[in-house]
Amino acid sequence: MRVFALYNIKGGVGKTAAAVNLAYLAARDGRSTLLWDLDPQGAASYCLQIDPKVKGGRKALLRGKSPVAKLIKPTAYDNLELLPSDFSYRNMDLELSDAKRPERRFRKLLEPLEEHYHTVFLDCPPGLTLTTESMFGAADTLLAPVIPAALSLRTLGLIEEFLAREELTRLRTLAFYSMVDRRKTLHRQLVDARHADPRFLFTTIPYASDVERMAERRAPVGEFAPRSAAAAAYESLWKEVEGRRT
Ligand SMILES: Nc1ncnc2c1ncn2[C@@H]1O[C@H](COP(=O)(O)OP(=O)(O)OP(=O)(O)O)[C@@H](O)[C@H]1O
Ligand SMILES: [Mg+2]
Repeated sequence: MRVFALYNIKGGVGKTAAAVNLAYLAARDGRSTLLWDLDPQGAASYCLQIDPKVKGGRKALLRGKSPVAKLIKPTAYDNLELLPSDFSYRNMDLELSDAKRPERRFRKLLEPLEEHYHTVFLDCPPGLTLTTESMFGAADTLLAPVIPAALSLRTLGLIEEFLAREELTRLRTLAFYSMVDRRKTLHRQLVDARHADPRFLFTTIPYASDVERMAERRAPVGEFAPRSAAAAAYESLWKEVEGRRT
C-alpha cells in the first residue's frame, strides 16, 4: 500500500483538486484506490457525490470501536472508494490529543486496509496541527501543490524543516506548481526555475476553469472534460508520481 498525502500548510492551493483527480486516475489504471477526506469542509467527498458524513463522527473513526472499513463508501468509479469527511473533524485535534501516540493514530487506522488498497490518497486540511502530524505518520509521500510566489517557497522550506526536526525522514516530499498562470511574469520565472530545484516535479497544473467546474459537475476533470489542458496536466502528474516510485 502506498500512501500519498496532498498537503500544504497553506489553504486554497489545489490540494483537494489534485487528490480527487489523482485518486480517479490511479483507480482508472486498475489500482484499488482509497481517497481519505480528512478535511472537515468535505470538498473531496462533495466532488465525488458522497455526503460528507461519518456515522458517529471523529469519535467513531478514532476510537476504533467499529472497523474503519465499515465507514468506507463506494464511488461512481470502479476501484475508487472514499472514506468521507465529517464536520466533526474540525475538532480532530481534541480527540487526538487524548490518544497515547497521536502521531501514529492514522497509520494504525490504515493498517487493516493494507491488503485491500494498492494506493491511498489523503486529502488534508491546511495548517500544521496534531492532525497533520498524524497524517505525516501515515503517509510515505507528501505531494505539495505550490502556487508560484516567493512566499510559497518559504512555506515549503518550513514544511521541510519541520519534517527534519521531527525526524520524519522516511517521508519524501514532492512539490509541484499549481494554479499556474503563464501570463504572469513571476509565475513564468518561478516555474521555469523548477528544473534546478530537486524538490519539484516537472509537471505543472495550469490555472484552468475546468478545475473550478469540478465542484459544479461533482466529478474529476477527466470525466467531464477529458480533452482539456487540466485533464492532461493531472494525467501527466499522475504518470510522473508513478514513475518516481521508489
Ligand atoms: N488549477 C486550478 N485552476 C483554477 N482553479 C483551481 C485550480 N485548482 C483549484 N482551483 C480552485 O481553487 C479553489 C481551491 O482549490 P482546492 O479546494 O483544490 O484547494 P485546497 O488546497 O484543497 O484548499 P483548502 O486548503 O481549503 O482545502 C477551489 O475553488 C478550486 O476549484
Ligand atoms: Mg482542500
